[in-house]
Amino acid sequence: MSGCPYFQRRVLEKNEEEERDDSQEGTNKASEGGIIYGEYLQLDKIVAAQSLQSELKGNKIHDEHLFIVTHQAYELWFKQILWELDSVRDIFISGDVKNGRNMLKVTTRTQRIIKIFKLLIEQFAILETMSALDFFDFREYLSPASGFQSLQFRLLENKFGIPNERRVPYNRQHYRENFHGQEREMLLRSEQEPTLLRVVEQWLECTPGLEEKGFNFWGKLEANITEELKRESEKLEMRPESEDKDEQMKDLIKQRDLFTSLFDEQRHEDLMRKGERRLSYKAFQGALMIYFYREEPRFQVPFQLLTSLMDIDALMSKWRYSHVCMVHRMIGSKMGTGGSSGYHYLRSTISDRYKVFVDLCNLANFLVPRHWVPELNTAGDSVLSTTNTCRG
Ligand code: HEM
Repeated sequence: MSGCPYFQRRVLEKNEEEERDDSQEGTNKASEGGIIYGEYLQLDKIVAAQSLQSELKGNKIHDEHLFIVTHQAYELWFKQILWELDSVRDIFISGDVKNGRNMLKVTTRTQRIIKIFKLLIEQFAILETMSALDFFDFREYLSPASGFQSLQFRLLENKFGIPNERRVPYNRQHYRENFHGQEREMLLRSEQEPTLLRVVEQWLECTPGLEEKGFNFWGKLEANITEELKRESEKLEMRPESEDKDEQMKDLIKQRDLFTSLFDEQRHEDLMRKGERRLSYKAFQGALMIYFYREEPRFQVPFQLLTSLMDIDALMSKWRYSHVCMVHRMIGSKMGTGGSSGYHYLRSTISDRYKVFVDLCNLANFLVPRHWVPELNTAGDSVLSTTNTCRG
């Protein structure tokens, strides 16, 4: 320390100032016992779980650390999504949502899933700071490990409701063939449990206003649309012949066919068998009803939920797309470490086959002008405020 008396006085004054600093008020509670940060989070396990295969093989490659941490972060977030998803399914199964109860929890948790998915898509950018050449340096040490073997990712797909029969085969095999023992049992169970798609379907079937002996939304909608299309056709018939008239007539016929198919239950069943529709006929009606009356207080939250479900579907597709783009950049069209054709296999998974709530997007095909929608009249409010059309 300097021998200068002025300097020493300044140091003393400074220490006194620091002592008066409010930000330093408090007690160190950690010394009083109880659980501390590292123990609570079991960080000893988490931060010690990065063993570089390249290092173990005597050729430590710097970027392998990032590769491991990124995958681990993904798996932790998958776990959180599963946590939220299970709770949402449980709330539906308990029947509480039918009475509008617990709906806030459902929407908050689905919103949370959406935010996590957004983060997971963003997160690829960090891994992409690694070049293909840097990845090449340690890729040989990874085989046959592959993201394909991610149990949590498969559970997530199953619990959302991706149907088994719609999956792309993996090296001509069912995806489950790559899992064994307890993991395989967990997957089988997740395929048999009620999926998010099924519980939402049951809930939609109970949409108030669908009862034939009550408001009879479907019957009224069919009558209105048939009447409006007939009126449009008659108006068009009156017009002098022209190319424009022919075009409009063709459009009208297309629209009529479309709506005839909408009100044909048998056609719906056929589309379901082909996998082009996923929701039951009744649930489909409930969803369309929520769409049309979304501004009614009773349907605002249900409408938000349907929107969130479409968001989740879209985000899962975006995740697949971002992943496949990164894979292409990293390994070109070489085989995957798990043994698939790599880029080509992954590209084939980006399609409607993997969309769970595809019906909700397709509802937009059946949107009609507001005045075609059955009026709720004065009794309308009470029609929609009935608890639900199902028991339980
Ligand atoms: C350099 C980065 C990566 C490369 C080159 C890569 C490559 C691949 C390849 C080639 C496949 C196909 C299966 C195979 O034959 O191995 C695959 C599947 C998969 N990867 Fe990645 N991956 C990377 C990063 C990630 C990350 C960060 C995750 C996050 C968990 C991940 C999760 C998955 C999942 C879940 C699958 C299965 C997809 C499906 O079957 O639909 N991958 N990956």
